[in-house]
Amino acid sequence: MRNGPYFIVVEGLDGSGKTTQIKHLRDYFQARGEACHLTAEPTDLPTGTFIRRVLRGQERVDPRTLAALFAADRVEHLFHATEGMLAKLAAGYHVISSRYYFSSLAYQSEYVDPAWVASLNRLAKATLPADLTLFLDLDPEVSMQRIAGRGEGSELFETLEKLRQVREDFHQAFAVYGEGERIVVIDAGDTKGVVAEQIMKEVQKL
Ligand code: TYD
Repeated sequence: MRNGPYFIVVEGLDGSGKTTQIKHLRDYFQARGEACHLTAEPTDLPTGTFIRRVLRGQERVDPRTLAALFAADRVEHLFHATEGMLAKLAAGYHVISSRYYFSSLAYQSEYVDPAWVASLNRLAKATLPADLTLFLDLDPEVSMQRIAGRGEGSELFETLEKLRQVREDFHQAFAVYGEGERIVVIDAGDTKGVVAEQIMKEVQKL
């Protein structure tokens, strides 16, 4: 492992175990005495808060607007003076984000011209591509069961048919836009421990 700090992105369908695995990664770095900043998109910044309202159906916007909002939230996520990922990396933290531009390429491309979504995200890719993107790949039916088990109200993208499409769109996005990036597909259907082990192996290659 070089010294870093690293920027690691965890992508996956809703219910694929991103949160659990991200916490495990933080514990791993902390055990090595290395500071780690956990973050997510949509963010907790005003841009992300507005997106959550849209996802819960409390605001309605055109799908193209939503794509632009995700891209704008990502710009905030990168450049915010204190909470931004660039600031955290400059301060020496490893940064681990739940979701980044591949989520937009997968989820928004279903409704919006994929080339336009890609162009909205070009700045993020040029500014800060991840050192490692882990895709927690899960059978959409299992994903649905896990989401149902959480007992939360379902958000915009959480129907079986949509999850199937999004999973395909993720694979497509990695193939088309992932050039030059280190992207690893992890089978998230395994137990948490096995998934964590696979992730550790990839992180140690950095
Ligand atoms: P998230 O909070 O990660 O949901 P979960 O924890 O259930 O995986 O993301 C909320 C939703 O936002 C999720 O359905 C994916 C969607 N999303 C997009 O459509 N485009 C994006 O660019 C991002 C970051 C998320």
